Amino acid sequence: MIVCSCAVISARDIEHAVVEIMSAPQALLPTPGVVFRHLNKKMNCCTCAPLTVATIYNAMDRLQADTRVCPFILAEARAKLIRLEERQQARTAMVAARRAELGLPRRVA
Ligand code: FES
Repeated sequence: MIVCSCAVISARDIEHAVVEIMSAPQALLPTPGVVFRHLNKKMNCCTCAPLTVATIYNAMDRLQADTRVCPFILAEARAKLIRLEERQQARTAMVAARRAELGLPRRVA
């Protein structure tokens, strides 16, 4: 299944990238940006970001089930990803509140 039509990235490409990233000795947090950089691709419109995140989570679940990567590293990475998402949602809510305060129209995503 194609996840990103701009960069032509499949779910399988993302899963392979997550396995390689999480198997590295100094594993980076597999954010969409890190995964795209690992694949030597660049996000263009970012429409695929939610699907990319879901695919990354699925890949991490599969890795945990396969026990190919230390479960503690996976749990730590998952917690960091959740914190990043929460911060992003808080920032989006803050911007929306500020726009409403200023009487500006809501942004359409
Ligand atoms: S669909 Fe992925 S960057 Fe456009």
